Amino acid sequence: MGLRIGICGTGAFADCFIPLFKAHPEVGQVVLCDLDAGKLQAKATQHGLSTTCPSLDELCQTEVDAIAIFSQNWKHGPQAVQALRAGKHVYSAVPSAISMDEIRDLVHTVEATGRTYMVGETSYYYPTAIYCRERFRKGDFGPIVYAEGEYYHDFDHGLYEVMKWRGGADWKRFAGGPPMYYPTHSTSMIIGVTGARMTQVSCLGWVDRHEDGLFRTDTNIWHNEFSNETALFRMSDGSMVRINEFRRIGHVGGERLNLYGTKASFEEQYLHKTWVDKHAGGCADLTELLSCAGVPATAAGGLSGLPAADAVHHGVSKVHPVERLPRQFVGLGNGHCGSHQFLVDDFVMACVSGRTPPNNVWAAARYLVPGLIAHESALRGGLQLAVPDLGEPPGQGR
Ligand SMILES: NC(=O)c1ccc[n+]([C@@H]2O[C@H](COP(=O)([O-])OP(=O)(O)OC[C@H]3O[C@@H](n4cnc5c(N)ncnc54)[C@H](O)[C@@H]3O)[C@@H](O)[C@H]2O)c1
Repeated sequence: MGLRIGICGTGAFADCFIPLFKAHPEVGQVVLCDLDAGKLQAKATQHGLSTTCPSLDELCQTEVDAIAIFSQNWKHGPQAVQALRAGKHVYSAVPSAISMDEIRDLVHTVEATGRTYMVGETSYYYPTAIYCRERFRKGDFGPIVYAEGEYYHDFDHGLYEVMKWRGGADWKRFAGGPPMYYPTHSTSMIIGVTGARMTQVSCLGWVDRHEDGLFRTDTNIWHNEFSNETALFRMSDGSMVRINEFRRIGHVGGERLNLYGTKASFEEQYLHKTWVDKHAGGCADLTELLSCAGVPATAAGGLSGLPAADAVHHGVSKVHPVERLPRQFVGLGNGHCGSHQFLVDDFVMACVSGRTPPNNVWAAARYLVPGLIAHESALRGGLQLAVPDLGEPPGQGR
């Protein structure tokens, strides 16, 4: 009957993914689940789905094969472990966990149960990452010398509203988390391109000054006062990496990658993306190539009798490999620089084929753990600390 998927958490972000899970040809049933009964009913109507479930506890008792977790960001680790122990495959929105204990438990549970786990790391399918991954694979960068990954998201850019709807009356306790506890959009763009992992870190924090008092030791559950953190890492390939996680910053925001090799480099600024060669003649402006303006669906890619306006792979750039996507995705929504459709397809195909997806639990740990240790370093004035590694997929060197 096809894969049966339960959606845990039917909030704002899940809205982007439910239509994709529904449309995937290998999915037979989508069950919606939320603690908020009113929201659950409204979302069931909105998405045209009839089967619902009032809690993750009950969803774990049902016959679903897989559970996709879109709950609040501080709940994912324990919920994923609960679902895996119930025998379900798990897709989780980022972050995969919020502490070393949680991420260790998650990796061990995947190893013990043999179930598929995948983190929905949107940056992995950003056009910048796709382009750099391909050129790195071809050897065009040469050995990597240095990289920068950044995620800038100022609180004035919608974060107050997000934290209020996620945290409810208690929102201030959860709003001021250490920025380095959410490092995965930045770290994954480098790890997901070169395959190298972070081995050592020294990090500094910027003590917040805002009158809202969110980043104060007595306000949030993390006792955190840093709203901006900068970390310098040693990588397993010998390169150096600087990661910025900023939540109070005079910047329009977004994720950004700069990657420097001995042969050539990639530079990304707010409005421009550039391939930089040693010689001026080899440089190229990639801004248009990597812009996510959508591409028309070809017969091979999935033109399925839709009106011309809908026969488009929405939200993707010219470097996204849309030909691998199900034809049923043509004309559907696709957020975060064209990544959503690829993430859903990766997860569903991993569940039905038994193959390990790219953003597996070991990759998720390599995206997350460097940030957890970086914050520890910042608390200790920048002391250089070793970054533990939780391993690789069985039988698979990465
Ligand atoms: N680029 C990205 O990767 C990206 C972007 C946006 C959001 N996110 C992630 O998506 C997640 C969801 O964000 P959101 O804004 O939609 O949150 P939200 O607060 O709108 O929705 C979360 C929902 O989960 C439900 N829930 C919590 N525990 C549950 C349980 N035990 N059983 C059933 N339902 C439960 C809540 O009732 C709530 O309705 C966040 O964790 C966030 O980190 C990732």
